[in-house]
Amino acid sequence: LASSATYTTPPVVLLLGPSQAGKTALATLLERAGSDNAAVVDGSGGGGGGSSSTSPILAPAQTHTSQTCQAVELNASTDSATRKSFRNRDDASGTHTKFLLVDTPGHGKLRNVAMGRLARATGAAADKSSSGSSNNSKKLKAVVFMVDAAAVGEHDALAPTAAYLYDVLLHLQRRASSSSSSRGKGGAVPVLIAANKMDLFTALPATMVKAQLEAELTRIRATRSKGLLDSGVGIDDVGGAGEDDQDCWLGEYGSEKFSFQQMGEFDIDVEVIGGSVTAEADVDKWWWWIAQRV
Ligand code: GTP
Ligand code: MG
Repeated sequence: LASSATYTTPPVVLLLGPSQAGKTALATLLERAGSDNAAVVDGSGGGGGGSSSTSPILAPAQTHTSQTCQAVELNASTDSATRKSFRNRDDASGTHTKFLLVDTPGHGKLRNVAMGRLARATGAAADKSSSGSSNNSKKLKAVVFMVDAAAVGEHDALAPTAAYLYDVLLHLQRRASSSSSSRGKGGAVPVLIAANKMDLFTALPATMVKAQLEAELTRIRATRSKGLLDSGVGIDDVGGAGEDDQDCWLGEYGSEKFSFQQMGEFDIDVEVIGGSVTAEADVDKWWWWIAQRV
């Protein structure tokens, strides 16, 4: 049948980030913000008596540490009328793009699960099921890397968060540089760093989150490029390490400080935007960013 032949899998947006950042909270919030619940929220202005507290409130689900990847199907619209409303719309107004938001486990011990998902989505993993493997890599439209803006102010949380981000960005950088040489550009995956939990008074503003991450990524880059030196290779021998060095160097090679802007060299657009999932949900800017990229 023609219909089955034209069936295409929806675009994918991958939700990555450390444990407790709020990934599952975001995925469930967006999923619940379907058209059924939207009416409830739109009408929330009604004062009413004490009984109004019984009306359902748009909120993320209670979460616990994720152990697997979980996809939710959403509909995004770039209709500017919906710009200030993150609701997942499947009504008939405007045009909508169906996509999958894939929530991943953030726990360090499950990093292979999340990175494996990324590798598969970018078509980097050895693909056993050869069918559609070339399309596979085109399905990934964006990566949302979520961080806890209240936690990254402390080095204990910043270091592992930045290390994870380094791995993600390096993966995308390698993929971009290998594909630009062989297949031409256009496949680079943009990254949104969602600085979550802005409702907490300890949260750093997005500009600070960005600065903290850039500083830590600079440190990691320096450490990793010295890795050979530290692992027992004589100081005199490091001259020969040039190529390996360049391969795990994030951003502009040889630059003193890392900045997200350097990812532009690989066509990878990185943006840091603040928001919060719980309390007064403030995810419109993230939703709008995603909607423009699926
Ligand atoms: P893993 O599944 O372990 O990777 O974590 P996760 O990123 O999925 O985190 P999860 O969504 O489970 O959220 C962790 C905790 O942060 C939960 O208790 C959420 O209620 C809380 N949380 C999420 N978003 C916000 C937010 O915007 N503000 C505040 N204050 N808390 C939040
Ligand atoms: Mg989770």
